[in-house]
Parts: sequence; C-alpha cells; structure tokens
Amino acid sequence: MQIMHRLTECTAKTCESLSHDIVTLIHSQKKVITSCPLPDDNGPVFQITLLPALSRHPLGSFESHRGGLWESVRHSSSSPKVALLGASGGIGQPLGLLLKQDKLIANLALYDVVNTPGVAADLSHIDTNAKVSAYTGSGELHAAVEGADVVVIPAGVPRKPGMTRDDLFNTNAGIVRDLVAAIAKASPKALIAIITNPVNSTVPIAYEVLKKAGVYDKRRVFGVTTLDVVRAQAFVAELKGLDASKTTVPVIGGHAGITIIPLLSQVKPATKFTDDEIKKLTPRIQDAGTEVVNAKAGAGSATLSMALAGARFTNALLRGLKGENNVQCSYVASDAVKGVEYFSTPVELGPNGVEKILGVGKVSAYEQQLIDAAVSELNKNVQKGVAFVK
Ligand SMILES: NC(=O)c1ccc[n+]([C@@H]2O[C@H](COP(=O)([O-])OP(=O)(O)OC[C@H]3O[C@@H](n4cnc5c(N)ncnc54)[C@H](O)[C@@H]3O)[C@@H](O)[C@H]2O)c1
Repeated sequence: MQIMHRLTECTAKTCESLSHDIVTLIHSQKKVITSCPLPDDNGPVFQITLLPALSRHPLGSFESHRGGLWESVRHSSSSPKVALLGASGGIGQPLGLLLKQDKLIANLALYDVVNTPGVAADLSHIDTNAKVSAYTGSGELHAAVEGADVVVIPAGVPRKPGMTRDDLFNTNAGIVRDLVAAIAKASPKALIAIITNPVNSTVPIAYEVLKKAGVYDKRRVFGVTTLDVVRAQAFVAELKGLDASKTTVPVIGGHAGITIIPLLSQVKPATKFTDDEIKKLTPRIQDAGTEVVNAKAGAGSATLSMALAGARFTNALLRGLKGENNVQCSYVASDAVKGVEYFSTPVELGPNGVEKILGVGKVSAYEQQLIDAAVSELNKNVQKGVAFVK
C-alpha cells in the first residue's frame, strides 16, 4: 500500500535535514520498505510504502517529528479502488459499465443488497483492466468499501411522477446513514460521492455520521450535482448551436427545484441570452429531472445521463487524487454563501478531495435573487438531515 505524506510547517532548510532524518528514522524502525522525497510546492512529499501490517495505521509514529507536521495527503495511489454502493440499480449498472472503462480504476467493488454477482460477472467479461468484485448484503459491506479511495453511492429509491426529491427522505436517509457508518469504519480516508436523493439532505447526513465516528473531514464528502451541469450544457448548446463538448455552464446551489441555479452569465464560450431565454432556460434546467421522471411514467428517474455524470465526477475525483487538480461543481460543506453551511459551487479537486472552494463568482442580479431564494430552502433540507442523525 502506498501512502503519500506531506511534511508541512517547516522551513526549506529544516525540511532538507528532516528529509534525511526521516528516511533514516523510517528505515531504522523498519516500518517502511521504500521512501523518497518528491517535489511539491507545499513542502516535500514522501512517497512511503508501508509494510502490510502497518497499512491500517498509515501515520504510525511519524505524525510529528522535530517540528515538522505530517499531513496524510492520500493513500493507495498506485492501484485506486472505487466502491459502488447500489451497483445493481438503474444508475448503478450503467455507472458500473462506465467505471469499468475508466483507466484510472484498478479495482471496482460492486455492492448492493441484491443481484451483485450477476452484474459483476457481466462486467468482468469486458476487456479492460479494472478488476471487478461483488459484495451482497450488509454482511459484505465492510469488505466492499475497505481500502477504497472513492466510494460512490447511488443506493436508494428514485422518484415516481408527482414526487419531490424530499419525498424520498424517509427511505433514503437511513440507507445513506448506514452506508456511511460502514465507510467511517472501513475506509475513513475515502472520498465519498453521494448521488442518492435528496442530495441536499443526504450530504449533511453523511457529514454528521462521520463526525459521530470521529473521522470527519469536510474535504471528503461530495454531493454529485454533475447531472445539473451536464443538462445545462446540453440545453445551452442546443439552444445556441454550440459544440456541447466545449460548452461549460456552472450550476450552483443544491440539487432540487429552486435550489438548482444555472449561472448563464458565466457560460463559456461567452454567450448572450435574452431575458426571455433566461427565464425559460432556468426553470427547464431546474425541472429537468422531473421531465425525465414524467417521461418514464413510473419506471424511475434519470439513470443513463446520471451514470454518465457520476462517471465523469468519479474520474475527476481520481484525477485530483493523482495530483491532477481540476475544477468541478459539487455540493459540499462550504462558506461560499452566507447563512448556509452546504452549497454547490465550482471547487478545486486535488489529493485531499476539496482543495479550494472557488465561490459563486460574479453573478447577475437575476442569479443573485435565485441564490437568495435558495438559501432558506437549503437550510431546511440541511437541518432535516442533521436532525435525522442527532
Ligand atoms: N444526484 C442526482 O443527480 C441523481 C439523479 C438521478 C437519480 N438520483 C438518485 O439516485 C438514487 C438511485 O436511483 P436509481 O434510479 O438507480 O434507483 P434504483 O431503484 O433503480 O436502484 C437503487 C439500487 O439501490 C439498491 N439499494 C437499496 N437499498 C440499498 C442498501 N441499503 N445498500 C445498497 N444498495 C441498496 C437497490 O437494490 C437498487 O439496486 C435515487 O435516490 C435517485 O433519486 C440522483
């Protein structure tokens, strides 16, 4: 198992002598088999391969050493493992198919309460390198998520016509709580990407569970709002005759109704919209999920476009873990907007998960009104999630 540790809070000179000391110390204690300083802007990073017996306690006795502080930067970079919880579902199956094709994934663990062996057998016949394994039922959950770098959660029930995402709370809140409790034990450093609705509440639920377990790290939990971005980009490209693959539209706020806020003033390439276009396009993006729910007429909600969005976001997390920092919109614990503790904005993803919250940027007066209206709705959703765990 490879662990990346960064030595912080020391001067360049101290770092230089420390690197020598640390390598000697580590070897003398026979706690690692290799180590080497790597260049990094924020202080030397040591790539350390721990003996298997120590892999569960990655920092060992090196948490602090002569004034330098160790920060665990990431783990298991050499063979990334992704666990997909809810793998047999409408989203889970096509998402598994896309993840099986992601070259950054070495191990793909499929977990569900039903049908996982069949899905895994099917996917394992695809000639890509990711190794597929199947886990079924709560007795196998620990093994499914153990050692995962990223856990993606689409487990839970979807909407039927006439339902809001909040109507799913009673069923899905408990599912997310229990899954995250297992992650807290088996892979507390994993990045957790939550697809299960209502995302506005399930993300705070996950945070509260991690807090209770004493492994809270606000940089590691993500509400997947990528589908809102994907939809906004598709609709804008269609309306304006743009190349969809080169069109970017930030979507901020949350992931339900009026909390979904497309920033049409920030579309790239720079695009002008009439007031009429903005007033039609904004609600279409906000209600796009309902458009799919109604068209499927009782057979569920978006699965194929969601799988694409989930695979794209998972790949972005994995690139970040590798040190390829990149920017995505995601619903996370955030101070970007006053008066609310969770908000989706563009965030910089990197080796620790969220490296930087980039904020809402310059918005139009109309968009500011949408932000103001979303805050109280989001607060209600957040409080409901927090209260559920407490
Ligand atoms: N974030 C988004 O943009 C977005 C978009 C679409 C759907 N969703 C949400 O994703 C969720 C899944 O949707 P779907 O269409 O795949 O539903 P689905 O019913 O087709 O699949 C859900 C899967 O979860 C499994 N499951 C249920 N309880 C479980 C548990 N305790 N542990 C593990 N697996 C469990 C089920 O067996 C099933 O295979 C829903 O909550 C839906 O609202 C989110």
